[in-house]
Amino acid sequence: MPTVRGRTIRVLFDAETIAARNREVAAEIAAAGYRDLLVVPILKGSFVFAADLLRALHGVGLSPEVEFIQLSSYDAQQVSSGHVSLVRDVESNLAGRDVLLVDDILESGRTIAFARDLLAKRGARKVAVAVLLEKAGKLAQPLTVDHVGFVCPDVFVVGYGMDAAHAFRGLPFVGVVEERRSRTARAGARGSRARSKDGRSRRGAGGSRRESRGRAGYRSRREP
Ligand code: IMP
Ligand code: MG
Repeated sequence: MPTVRGRTIRVLFDAETIAARNREVAAEIAAAGYRDLLVVPILKGSFVFAADLLRALHGVGLSPEVEFIQLSSYDAQQVSSGHVSLVRDVESNLAGRDVLLVDDILESGRTIAFARDLLAKRGARKVAVAVLLEKAGKLAQPLTVDHVGFVCPDVFVVGYGMDAAHAFRGLPFVGVVEERRSRTARAGARGSRARSKDGRSRRGAGGSRRESRGRAGYRSRREP
């Protein structure tokens, strides 16, 4: 398993698997027959997926225009807060156009629902949605998306644009940051190494304080 920033990452979707699926999703998008297409990635988490998807779209003969929106949902516990706000809006006139929203993960669906309503209000003829990952069974409201890369287990993922406290966005794969071993377990491992060398334990009165920084030790501001 790769180690990044001193943390072990368990890979869920590797780079080759993602690239192959992106080509399939691009073919699906081409077959959908969107007209005068404007691709709108939702910053920040979708930036890597969107960049690769756009190049895969070129590979199937599509050359859409591209604009960005940035949304934010604040939460310290890596659970959707339910409050989505607009940080950066599109600049183009969307009247009568087909728009493809691109996002990294569909979880509660609040981010996508907010973005879809916003672009529909701007006059888009159709607002379709492509997401890299969908966490099954987590929708807060009924919502259908048009193109899904992979169904993802209900774990906090990083990489391929997605972050934990702004880290790990540059990983070329999607993975899960493994829990740090507790001090007790680390001290235990050191103790048994020391004992195996000289037959005596060097382990002091080691603490058994548990990690207190939440899942995988990362506090995160959830950013779409
Ligand atoms: P939703 O509004 O609950 O659907 O949440 C979607 C947004 O939360 C996505 O756009 C992501 O940016 C973020 N998100 C949800 N799950 C994860 C995760 O496992 N890792 C990183 N970001 C996530
Ligand atoms: Mg996102």
